[in-house]
Amino acid sequence: MGILKPLILTNLWLLLHIPLHSANTYNVGDPVPLFVSKIGALHNPSETYQYYELAFCHPDQILEKKLSLGEVLSGDWLANALYELEFAVNKTGVVLCQQKLKRGDVAKFRDAIKNDFYYQMYYDDLPLWAFIGKVEDESWTADGKGPKYFLFTHVQFDALYNGNQVIEIHAFGDPSHVVDFTDDVDVKVEFTYSVSWNETSIPYENRMDRYARASLLPILHQTHWFSFINSIVCVFLLMGLLTVLFMRHLKNDLRKWSIGDEDEEKEVGWKYIHGDVFRCPTNLPLFSAFLGCGTQLLTMVPILFGLAFIGVFHPYSHGALSNFIFISYIFTSAVAGYSSASFCSQYTETGWERSVLLAGILFLGPFLCAAFILNMLALYFRSTAALPLGTIFIIFLIYSLVAIPLLVLGGVIGNRYKSDPQSSPVTKKYPREIPSLAWYRKTPAQIFLGGLLPFSAIILELHNLCATIWGYKIYTLPGVLFITFIILTILTAMLSVGLTYFQLAVEDHQWWWRSILHGGSTAIFMFFYCIYFYLKSNMSGILQTSFFFGYSACMCYAFFLMLGTISFRASLMFVRRIYHAVKSE
Ligand SMILES: *[C@@H]1O[C@H](CO)[C@@H](O)[C@H](O)[C@H]1NC(C)=O
Ligand SMILES: *[C@@H]1O[C@H](CO)[C@@H](O)[C@H](O)[C@H]1NC(C)=O
Repeated sequence: MGILKPLILTNLWLLLHIPLHSANTYNVGDPVPLFVSKIGALHNPSETYQYYELAFCHPDQILEKKLSLGEVLSGDWLANALYELEFAVNKTGVVLCQQKLKRGDVAKFRDAIKNDFYYQMYYDDLPLWAFIGKVEDESWTADGKGPKYFLFTHVQFDALYNGNQVIEIHAFGDPSHVVDFTDDVDVKVEFTYSVSWNETSIPYENRMDRYARASLLPILHQTHWFSFINSIVCVFLLMGLLTVLFMRHLKNDLRKWSIGDEDEEKEVGWKYIHGDVFRCPTNLPLFSAFLGCGTQLLTMVPILFGLAFIGVFHPYSHGALSNFIFISYIFTSAVAGYSSASFCSQYTETGWERSVLLAGILFLGPFLCAAFILNMLALYFRSTAALPLGTIFIIFLIYSLVAIPLLVLGGVIGNRYKSDPQSSPVTKKYPREIPSLAWYRKTPAQIFLGGLLPFSAIILELHNLCATIWGYKIYTLPGVLFITFIILTILTAMLSVGLTYFQLAVEDHQWWWRSILHGGSTAIFMFFYCIYFYLKSNMSGILQTSFFFGYSACMCYAFFLMLGTISFRASLMFVRRIYHAVKSE
C-alpha cells in the first residue's frame, strides 16, 4: 500500500490535469524544451515505438516525461534529448554524438528506412516530424544491385519566431549527409544538426492553425466540400421521397378507418394488431440494456462535439480526445442506468437490476476484450501504444469508484420514475399469428434496406473520417462531422418509421427488435466499408492490422448501439401515435 498511494494520487492528478498550452516566452539564447517522442511507419499509424528503440544519440540518462492519462491512452511517449536548440540562435554543423553501430543496429535502421519510418519530436509543445532515411531504387544506382538504404545523419531545423515566442518549426534530414546502410557491417556514424531562425509576423494564437491545414492540399479541400454537399443533396432527396410516399399511405389508412369503408378495410392491416404491438419485447433485460447503452453513447456525442467546437481537440493536442471520451463515458453511466431501468420497469416490477447490469457491460465488455488483446500485442511488439500497468489499474479504480455507483444510482432513479406506461395495453392472452410473408418482408431483406440508404448517404464522410483517423491525408472539420451525424440520425429515424409502418401493415407485430436492427444495420455496412478501406490503404503488419480492425469494430459497434436506439425510439413514438389516433376515434 505504501507505494500504491502516491501512485494513485499522482495518476489522479494527471488525469484531471488537461494540458492547456500556456504561452511560453523566451529571451535570445534561452533553452527551449525539446522532447523526442515516437518513431513510426508512415503507412501504419498505430505502429509506433519509442524513439530510442533505434540507436540514435541519447543522453546518458533517458528521462521519460510524466504524461497525463489521455496522453498515455493515445500512445504518447516523451523523453529528453541531446539536441540543444536555444531560442533564436543560429547554429551550423553541431556534432550531436558519434555512434559505433553494430550490425544489429544497422539492420534495425534498415528495416525502419524500408518501411518509411519517421520520428516525432515536440519543441515548445509544437510537434515536428522528419524521415529517418531514404531508399534509392536500383534503376538509380550505377551497379544496379537492388535498392540501397541511406540514413540521414544531419538534421536541419528551420524555426520561426515572433517577438519572444516560438511560432513554427520544421525538421528534415539533409540528403547530402547520408550513410549507406544497405549492408550488414559495423558502421561509425557522426550525427550532426543545424538550426536556422527567421522572424515572422504570424501571431502566437495562430501557430497551431498550420496543423489543421497541414495536409489539406487545395484539391482535397475541394472534393471534401463537394462530397459533403453531395451527401446533403442525397439526403434531402431521400427524405422528400419517403415523406411523400408515407404521408399518402398513412392518410389514406386513417381516412378509411374513420369512414369505416367496409370494402377497403382489408387493406389496412395494422389496426388489427393493436392488441399485440405493445406486447413486451422478447428478452426484455437485453432490450432495455441495449437502449441504456445506446442512449448513453448518444449523450456523449453532443458533449464531445461541444468540446470540439470550443477547440479542445486540436488535431495534435496530446491525448485530449481520449481523456474526454473516458471522462464522459464515466459520467454518462448514470444515463445508461436510468434509461434501461425506466424502460424495463414499465413491463415488470422486478428484474430491472439485471437490465442495469447488462447495460454496464453491453458495450464495455466487448470493448475491454478488444483493448486487452490489442494491449497484449502492443506489449509484445514493444509499441508505445501499450498501456502501462499503473494506468490500467487507475482506469479500473476510477471506473469502479465513480462509474458503477453512477450506473446504480441511475438505475434506482429510473425504476422510481419509470417512463409513462404504454398507451394501449395488451388485450389478448396469446399473440396473433403472423401471416406468411414474401421474402422481401422478412427481417434480413428489411434490415438490408434499412442500412443501405443511410450508409449510402454518409459514405463519403465516412471515408474522410477513416482517412483522418488512419491516414494523414485529410483533417475532417467537426462541424461537417456533426451535420453528417444529424443527417444520419434523421435518416435512420425516418426509415425506421417507414419500415415499421410497412411491417405493421402486413400484420407482422414483432417490431421491437426489428426496428433496432433496421437502424443498427448501417453500422454493419460501415464495418464492411472499413474492410474495404483497409484493403485500399497501405497498412500492413500484424500490429497495425489488429489495431485497425479492433478499433473499427468497436467504433461500428458503438454506432450499432446508437443507431439502433434512435431507430427504436422513432418507431416507438410513431406506433404510439398511430394507435392512439385509432383508439380515440
Ligand atoms: C530565412 O531567411 C533567409 C533569407 O531571408 C532565407 O534564405 C532562409 O531560407 C530563411 N529561413 C527560413 C527557415 O525560413
Ligand atoms: C539565421 O540565419 C538566417 C540565414 O540562414 C538569417 O536570415 C537570420 O537572420 C539568422 N537569424 C538570427 C537570429 O541570427
